[in-house]
Amino acid sequence: MSDSIKDYELLKTEIRKHDHSYYVLDNPQISDAEYDSLFLKLINLEKKYPKWVSPESPSQRVGISPVTAFSTHQHAKNMLSLSNCFNDEEFFDFDKRVNKSLNSSVQTKYFCEPKIDGAAVSLTYLNGILEIGATRGDGETGENITSNVRTINSIPLKLIGLKDIPEVLEVRGEIFMPKDEFTRLNKLQEKEGNKLFSNPRNAASGSLRQLDPQITKSRPLHFFAHGVGITQGISFSSQEEVFKKFESWGLPVNPLNTIAIDLDDCIKYFEEIDKNRESLNYEIDGVVYKVNNLDDQNKIGEIARSPRWAIARKFPAEEVKTKIIDINFQVGRTGVITPVAKLEKVFVGGVNVSNCTLHNIDELERLDPRPGDDVVIKRAGDVIPQIIKVIAKDKNRASKVKLPKLCECGSEATLNHAESWEVREHQTLIKKLDSIYEAKDLIKNANKGYTLHKVQQRAAFLKCMGGRSCDARIRGSFYHFVSRKAFDIEGLGKEIINRFLELSYFKDIQDIFTLENHSEEIEMLEGFGSKSVENLIQSINSSRNIELHRFIFGLGIEEVGEATARNLSNHFKSIEKLMSTSFDELITLDDIGPRVASNIMQFFENDYCKNMVSELLPHLKIQNPSLINQDSHLLNKTIVITGTLEEFKRDELKNMLLNKGAKVSGSVSSKTNYLIVGSNAGSKLAKANKLGVEIINEDQISDFLNEK
Ligand code: IVH
Repeated sequence: MSDSIKDYELLKTEIRKHDHSYYVLDNPQISDAEYDSLFLKLINLEKKYPKWVSPESPSQRVGISPVTAFSTHQHAKNMLSLSNCFNDEEFFDFDKRVNKSLNSSVQTKYFCEPKIDGAAVSLTYLNGILEIGATRGDGETGENITSNVRTINSIPLKLIGLKDIPEVLEVRGEIFMPKDEFTRLNKLQEKEGNKLFSNPRNAASGSLRQLDPQITKSRPLHFFAHGVGITQGISFSSQEEVFKKFESWGLPVNPLNTIAIDLDDCIKYFEEIDKNRESLNYEIDGVVYKVNNLDDQNKIGEIARSPRWAIARKFPAEEVKTKIIDINFQVGRTGVITPVAKLEKVFVGGVNVSNCTLHNIDELERLDPRPGDDVVIKRAGDVIPQIIKVIAKDKNRASKVKLPKLCECGSEATLNHAESWEVREHQTLIKKLDSIYEAKDLIKNANKGYTLHKVQQRAAFLKCMGGRSCDARIRGSFYHFVSRKAFDIEGLGKEIINRFLELSYFKDIQDIFTLENHSEEIEMLEGFGSKSVENLIQSINSSRNIELHRFIFGLGIEEVGEATARNLSNHFKSIEKLMSTSFDELITLDDIGPRVASNIMQFFENDYCKNMVSELLPHLKIQNPSLINQDSHLLNKTIVITGTLEEFKRDELKNMLLNKGAKVSGSVSSKTNYLIVGSNAGSKLAKANKLGVEIINEDQISDFLNEK
C-alpha cells in the first residue's frame, strides 16, 4: 500500500498533540513506548520521502550544525522592561497613576502573573509556524537564537488547532530552567569536571546562548509565554484573552496567572505567591500586575523603556546571617586597596557567598566589622552582595581592624581623598553626586539657577604607592586582560595566572603571547598535560585576532570601562590614532570628561604602558572598526540577506554591507530597508513582500553596492 502525504500530516498532528500533552500540560495520554513507535513511524516516512520534510516537523528540532556567531535580530517593537515596587503603598501609587491617565473613577482590573526569573525571548510565528526566536538584548536588538529555541520541547514548532491562527504572531515570554533540573545539571557538570552554574537563571541564559544547538537540546529548558509583540491578522482585547488564545494554540502559560477584581485581590495574590514560592519548581522574583484591558494599556503608554500600564512587585532581597572569619585588604589592578570581609560560606539570592566587599574605608569605619562578629548580608538579583548590618560579638570581641600601612608588595599604602559634587540652588542642596558628569547633566537639564560645588570627602580609599611594580596590581591587570569582555582567554584563570607569575613565565602582559616557549615546562606541572597545554595555547592564539574596543578595554586604563572603550574605538578607529590623541580631542567625545581624558593621556605617556602596548602589537591582529564613508547610500540602512547566493559568499557580502555603514539583520521587520534574495528564499521573502520591503536580486547586488 502506498503512503499518502495526508497520513503523514495526520501523523505529525498526532505527535504534536502528544508533545503538547507531555511537555506543556504535563499530562501524557499514551505510554512512552507508544509515543516512540509513532515517532519511529514518522522518521521512517521521512527517510522514504525526504521531500515531504519541512522545518516544523516534530523530527526537526535539531537540524542545524553549530554556528560561529549569532546574527542580530532587530525587534519590530522594543522589548520593554518593568519598573518595580516593593510594598503595598508603592503599588497603590502605581494604581493611582493608572487611573489618573485613564481619567477613570472605576477600579481598573489587573492581570496578575508570577515574575519568572529566566531569560526573556521573542518568538515569531508566521501562519502558525515558528520562524524566529530571539533574545531580548538591549530591548531594540537581540540575537537570533532560532535554532536553539527550536530544541525546547515545550515551544511548539507549529501552533496547534486550526482556528484563528494569525499571519504574524510575536509571542514574548521567559525561558527558564526548573529548579530540580538545575540541581541535576549541576551534578552532571561536577561529575564531568565542568564549571557549575550559580543559579537557574544563569544556567538558562548560558544554555540558550550556545553556538551548538545540540548542547542547548541537552539542557532542560522550559518556557512560559507572557505577552504579545507584533501581530497581523488578529487583535486581542485583553491580557486575559491573550492567555486564553495562547493556551488554545498550545503555548505554555503559567497556571498561576489570574485576573484580580480589585486592589485587595492584587495584594492577596502577591501574599499567596510569596507564601508558596518555595514549593514552585521554578524561580520567581516577584509578581507582575498588568492593566487587563489592551485599549487601556495603549492609552496609558510607556516611558523610558518600561510600560506605565504594568509593574513588578518584587520580593524583598534575601537577607541571611553569617560570621566574619577575617577582614582582608585586596589590591586591584589600579592599585586601590579594598577591604573585603571573608565570611563563613552562605547561600543567598541564588549564589554561594564567602567574600563580601566593604567598598571603601568609609564603609569599613561605618560598619566596624571585626573577625568573629556576625553579619547580615543581602543579595538581590544580579547585584553584588552587601553587608547591611554587623552584630558585634558581645564577649571577647576582636579589636578594631587597622588599616595597613603597607601594601602587600611592601610599598607604602596611603589614604586618598575622593571628591563628590553637590548641586545647589542658592544655599539649598538639591542632590549630592559622585560623578561630575551626572552633576553637569543635572544642571544642563534642569533649572537655570542650579550651581555646582566640589566637596572634598573624608579619607576614602587606600592606594598602593608602589606603582606598576606592585605584584598584586600586576596580578589584577592579568586577570582583567584575560577577562570575558577583554581578550576572553579561556583556560587562563586566576590560579593559573598566579602560578605562571610565580614561575616567572609571566612578568608583563605581553608574555602571554610567548607562553608557548614554556609549553614543555608547563606540561610537567601538576594538573597539566599535553592536551590542556595545547588547548591553552590554542585559546591564546585565537585571542590574537581582537576587536579594537576589546583591546582598549583590556589595557586596563583607569575608569575606561567597556562602553568608553567602544566609544574610543568608534571614534579613533585605530590604536595609533588613539595613542596620538590630545586631551582636548578626548573631551569632545560624548561620555569622556576631564578625569577620564587625563587617565587616558597619562596611560599613553607612561613609559611602562607605552612599552607594553608596542610589545603587544606585533603579537596581535587588531580589527579596527571600518572607516565608513558618511555619504554612503547604505549608511544606517537595515538589510537582510536570505536564500542561496551563487556569486557571493554570505559573510563577505555581509562585510561589504557593514563596511558601507549598513546594519545586517537576521530577520525581516518593519524596520528592514532592503532584502537581498538568493535562490530558494522562503518566509523572509514572503514577509518582505507583505511589508513592502525593497527586494534586491543576486544579479542586482553589484549595482546596489556601488550605487552613488
Ligand atoms: S511582562 C512590557 N510578564 O521581567 C512588559 N515580564 O523586568 C514586559 N518577566 O524582561 C514584560 N515574568 O523577561 C512580563 N509574567 C511576566 C514576566 C516578565 C518575567 C521578565 C521579562 C522582562 C523582565 C522585566
